[in-house]
Parts: sequence; structure tokens; C-alpha cells
Amino acid sequence: MKYKGIIFDLDGVLVYTDKYHYLAWKQIADRLGIYFDEEINNRLRGVSRMASLEIILERSTQKFSDEQKEELAEEKNEIYRQYLGGLTQRELGEGVLQTLEKFKTMGLKLAVGSSSRNTELILKKTGIYEYFDVISDGNNISKPKPDPEVFIKAADMLGLLCGQCLVVEDAVSGVLAATAANMDCAAIGDAAKHKMATYNLESFNQLTDIVS
Ligand code: BG6
Ligand code: MG
Repeated sequence: MKYKGIIFDLDGVLVYTDKYHYLAWKQIADRLGIYFDEEINNRLRGVSRMASLEIILERSTQKFSDEQKEELAEEKNEIYRQYLGGLTQRELGEGVLQTLEKFKTMGLKLAVGSSSRNTELILKKTGIYEYFDVISDGNNISKPKPDPEVFIKAADMLGLLCGQCLVVEDAVSGVLAATAANMDCAAIGDAAKHKMATYNLESFNQLTDIVS
């Protein structure tokens, strides 16, 4: 097999929680009178909560103190977690469950490599927590994507070399992070056409062909 471990991004790859991130930020942006749309939202993919807020505030004429920014980020997270309250296995990406099942039987090591601090909650609510050997996420990193830290830590936790792992990403920041970690990257969704991606996926199911 070409890879020994697969490191999955969470939001927009395993679970369609990316839409809830968008809706929560949209609520904040609308309240502040800041223009925000799906295209701007694509820049928020993979980056930390605070970095996401900074991107939204680029279009604001108002200045915000660090304390106000903390409050806004917290408010967004509360709205987001209300959406997560209703999360079920139905929000899993198409083909995710079957692919995870298959990779497990193939003896691959599986990790999540995400900037989110809500990873565990999301994995548990969607019933896929048990598939992963390790979780590297916003809680154990100091530098978010596009820094490679989250993926390097995931490989390390799996006991593998970076070159033995494949990253699956929907964010440009994630493709850049994987590249910086010297890992191959299968890109899907918004990042699928990125020139640095090793594989451009049209569907999640194509992963099985790449890996076997
Ligand atoms: C990433 C998302 O997975 O996690 C980003 O793509 C998000 O949009 C980031 O900002 C942080 O997530 P959370 O759940 O900790 O706010
Ligand atoms: Mg993502």
C-alpha cells in the first residue's frame, strides 16, 4: 500500500459542518453590517476561529479591541454549537462511513487533523469517533493551517513518518499545510483544483482507488 496512515480534515471533508460555520459567521457579520458571502467564506476554511474573524473584519470600517474580538469569536462559537446540537450521522460526507470502514479493514491508521476545537463533539455526534486512532486539532496546536504543525503532530501521534501519510482536505490552507509537511494531499470541494494538491478528488469515494 502506498500509505500507512490517512489524516482527514474534519469540517467540509468528513462532516458537512462547514455550512454551519458559514451560517454562524453570517449571523455575526449581518449584525455588524459587514458584507459576507460564500466566496469570502471559502477563505475561512481550515483557518482558526480568530483568523476567520479577522478575515470577516477586513470589510469593517469599525475598529475592534482584542476583548471585543474574543467576545465575537465566543458568540460565533455559541451559535455554531447550537447548530451542532442537532448534528446526526446524516451530515456525514457522502461515502465517508463506507470509506472509513474499508480503511480500517485494510489496516490503515486513521487520524483527524483539524483546526477545530469542536472535533470530539462532532465525531461523537456523527458516530465516527471510534474509527480514529488519534486526533490532532485546534486544542493541541499553537500554529493553525497553513502551518504544517497539525499534520506533523498527527503523523507523530500515529507513530508514522510524514511521507507515509496522506492528507484529505477541502481547504486551500490545508493543502498548503500538507505540502509544507511533505505529505501527499487529496483535495476535495473548494480546494480540489488547487495546483499543489497531489490528487484532485471529484468524490470522497475516489480515495479508495488512491490508497489501494
Ligand atoms: C476549521 C474550519 O476546520 O476549524 C474553520 O474549516 C474553523 O472554518 C476552524 O474556523 C476552527 O473551528 P472551531 O470549531 O474551533 O471554531
Ligand atoms: Mg475543512
